[in-house]
Amino acid sequence: MPIFNYQDNDALGKVISVDTSNVIVEVVNIEQLKRLQVNRLAVLQSSKPGQHLIGLINKVTRKKLDSNLIDEDAENQPLEQNLCRISLIGTLLDRDGVRQNVFRRTLESVPEIDANCFSLEGDYLTGFMRILSSTAEEGKSLTLGRYTLDDGAVAYLNGNRFFQRHAFIGGSTGSGKSWTTAKVIEQMAELDSPNAIIFDLHGEYEPLQADSIQHFKVAGPGDIDAGNTLEDGVIFLPYWLLSYEALVSMFVDRSDQNAPNQAMIISREINAAKRKYLEDGDHVDLLNNFTVDSPVPFDLAGLLGELNQINTQMVPGSGGREKQGEFFGKLARMIARLENKTSDRRLGFLFQGGAGTLEFDWLDTLIASLMGSADENDSKGIKIINFSEVPSDILPLIVSLVARLAFSVQQWTPSNLRHPIALLCDEAHLYIPQRSMAGAADDVSIDIFERIAKEGRKYGTSLVVISQRPSEVNKTVLSQCSNFVSMRLTNVDDQNVIKKLLPDSLGGFSEILPTLDTGEALVVGDASLLPSRIRIDKPRNEPNSGTIDFWDEWQDAVPVGRLTNAVQNWRKQSI
Ligand SMILES: Nc1ncnc2c1ncn2[C@@H]1O[C@H](COP(=O)(O)OP(=O)(O)OP(=O)(O)O)[C@@H](O)[C@H]1O
Ligand SMILES: [Mg+2]
Repeated sequence: MPIFNYQDNDALGKVISVDTSNVIVEVVNIEQLKRLQVNRLAVLQSSKPGQHLIGLINKVTRKKLDSNLIDEDAENQPLEQNLCRISLIGTLLDRDGVRQNVFRRTLESVPEIDANCFSLEGDYLTGFMRILSSTAEEGKSLTLGRYTLDDGAVAYLNGNRFFQRHAFIGGSTGSGKSWTTAKVIEQMAELDSPNAIIFDLHGEYEPLQADSIQHFKVAGPGDIDAGNTLEDGVIFLPYWLLSYEALVSMFVDRSDQNAPNQAMIISREINAAKRKYLEDGDHVDLLNNFTVDSPVPFDLAGLLGELNQINTQMVPGSGGREKQGEFFGKLARMIARLENKTSDRRLGFLFQGGAGTLEFDWLDTLIASLMGSADENDSKGIKIINFSEVPSDILPLIVSLVARLAFSVQQWTPSNLRHPIALLCDEAHLYIPQRSMAGAADDVSIDIFERIAKEGRKYGTSLVVISQRPSEVNKTVLSQCSNFVSMRLTNVDDQNVIKKLLPDSLGGFSEILPTLDTGEALVVGDASLLPSRIRIDKPRNEPNSGTIDFWDEWQDAVPVGRLTNAVQNWRKQSI
């Protein structure tokens, strides 16, 4: 049974103008006009029988006609023209083969001039939304919540498409991004062998628990004191995993006049130190295809010794006297930086992992933990990594290091053995910023994420970019996302970013962004059947959003000893 049974006299009005994806309808009945609401749905008669076109109302106007143009003699001459602009978003087919009532995101036809337009509400709306839900339900689908238009209808997303071409979750602080992300993670966790890494910058996702969720934390000073290891869920990311560019950005100050010499020498010396490691460890077979970026450990103390030697080298000069070598004193600042960093307790996860992290096989162990799946060496599919103790100045280097490890492994896996992985990047503006705002550490990170955004699809690597400042997130990365879950956005610059990413015909849809409720999202993209407003369900385990009830807390007693405790912890660099 077709769900719509509109009669001609139910019509709001008739089509008076058509272009590729918009139509303009003239509404004759003023009462009808008052009922029309922007962002609600409308149905248009199609030129093909057994089909209806579905559209989104995006503008309703009432215009006084120019009195000069009115023919005074004619009777019942209207004094105004009521118009409604509708973006066409899909077709409802009464039947498609053996299936009845099928909705497609394509326009199978366009309406003709004078075609009738009807509003989609009441039982018809419920019927239509049910069709959307059941169409999507057939596959393994991702549910975020229910349609705001009809809360009886579950909004499904196509899980394949959501991850295939990257997704973006945006919204002002407190709009519900982390909860939405938790909802996505929860559903991934119900699959048999999900695979994902979540970059959790504040330890917000700690409460998420499921059989296939595993928690890790990048080692902080306290973990080093306690001797925690991978078995305790503590990750070390030894310095030798960093790319040459990342090492240079950490040790060489770009503004130093000797920066080019320093970069050249450190490259040469790291190369030599890695070679030595391979030779000493009987891995000479790897030397043929070896580069400075190869994931090979090297001895940092040895490197430092070499650099000191070059920095103080004397060479024979004229008349048998010694003179200063070419790089005498030129490496001093780089050496000082290196020494400072290696002894910085906050960077212990890079430099103080102990001898184990310098073993050749250590990379295998790390990768197995980070990327293993449920049926491989006791790993669990979804890994939530807490980066809260990583200092903010090197955060981009460290997050992107993990992303690079994951992407490299995907690239080096033969395609028949590959298992797709998603990287969920919370607070992405902190480590995937715009180029123009970027510093040296950011550049390294941007390069990696841009590369994954552009090429990840082919290697089964998906990005889910999550940010409260879409306007500060790297444009190249955003433009590669084809799904947008946009929550309340109050800042105009941020709204404009989303607006530009929407298809032209839906640009007006973005105007509801500032008015969305907490936990409500505008979902647009190739994973959703209909660009729609969705009320996101609460996740089973709620993330620690750190929502503090100031007013209430200011009425409670203040915790004893909090300030001395804080100062102490600050000095100790651990809580
Ligand atoms: N789907 C939802 N239903 C009901 N309440 C919600 C929902 N999502 C979020 N909230 C409320 O909003 C608060 C903030 O949500 P959340 O932590 O997800 O925001 P956020 O967008 O991640 O913010 P930030 O940018 O600061 O990280 C939550 O503590 C919760 O009270
Ligand atoms: Mg958040």
